[in-house]
Amino acid sequence: MAKRPKIVLIGAGNIGGELAALAARKELGDVVLFDIPDKEGLAKGKALDLEQNGTVLGYDAHITGTSSWDDCAGADVVIVTAGVPRKPGMSRDDLLSINLKIIRGVAGNLKAKCPDVFVIVISNPLDAMVYEMKKVTGFARAKVVGMAGVLDSARLQLFLARELGTSVKDVRAMVLGGHGDSMVPVLSYCTVNGVPVSQLIAKEKLDAIVARTAGGGGEIVKLMGTSAYYAPASAAIAMAEAYLKDQKRLLPAAAFCEGEYGYRDLYIGVPVIIGAGGVERIVVVELTSEEKALLDKSAAAVRELLEAGARL
Ligand code: NAI
Ligand code: 2OP
Repeated sequence: MAKRPKIVLIGAGNIGGELAALAARKELGDVVLFDIPDKEGLAKGKALDLEQNGTVLGYDAHITGTSSWDDCAGADVVIVTAGVPRKPGMSRDDLLSINLKIIRGVAGNLKAKCPDVFVIVISNPLDAMVYEMKKVTGFARAKVVGMAGVLDSARLQLFLARELGTSVKDVRAMVLGGHGDSMVPVLSYCTVNGVPVSQLIAKEKLDAIVARTAGGGGEIVKLMGTSAYYAPASAAIAMAEAYLKDQKRLLPAAAFCEGEYGYRDLYIGVPVIIGAGGVERIVVVELTSEEKALLDKSAAAVRELLEAGARL
């Protein structure tokens, strides 16, 4: 008989809790919410609350809270939010030294306990954290991916839809590059049911929307004193679902480039196909010379971050 997939969430904070709620509601599998021993009560409390929620909403999922790595063994999917989020005035890069140490510890445990898992990293600074995850685990590039592009693209889609007064459902948008100020909204692939947005929105307005998207995370940090969690969780769950259900979705995500787009030994946001094989393929699309130049600039920013990480 087929077993339910096991979804392990490392970090039971704001995003971790929302990830658990979504995974359970969608009946993607059984969920383990893991946190450090000091926060085990939080993990167990959220798990119990969500199990009780299941009896109201009628979903079948076992949700457990733990601080023991033994409970994470044999996971099919792991989503990592361990670390600290941004506080007002902090950049994602300010988080580097704190979160790098945390990710190294998490990666070592995943390597030991979950050798066949598909890992989705969310912790910031994203591109450096996902790079470190692959480096420490030694997992194949298909099995380690970073979530940022789905979220950044969702923000761009929202702002475009609001400007046009259209449904968000009709807007497709793609943001590539690093998850930082240098991210690259690829306007040549942003459309409203196939119509390029450049035909619908004036350039100055588009420039303002692009700038708001790049600052989209910071805008929320400023408003509520911590970073976003609903949309980040939904974005990662879309990626987990694509893997678990072999959906072969084309999504922008931080993937390990081995020559694609001219980059090597680098995690950066590119279009990928996610299916049962994990990141099955990096899709190389044509970019305008301006977009490619912006992507190169973003790649250089990610490389600087990696170099700073390597010194820590
Ligand atoms: P949070 O502070 O609510 O939760 C983080 C949890 O990680 C805490 O419960 C903490 O105890 C736990 N933790 C710390 N060290 C740990 C360890 N060694 N093992 C297991 N758990 C550990 O933070 P939140 O809002 O959930 O954000 C998590 C991360 O996601 C942050 O780094 C944030 O910057 C990042 N983020 C990334 C986004 C992206 O697009 N990639 C979007 C939004 C947030
Ligand atoms: C976000 O984009 C801060 O990375 C976080 O919301």
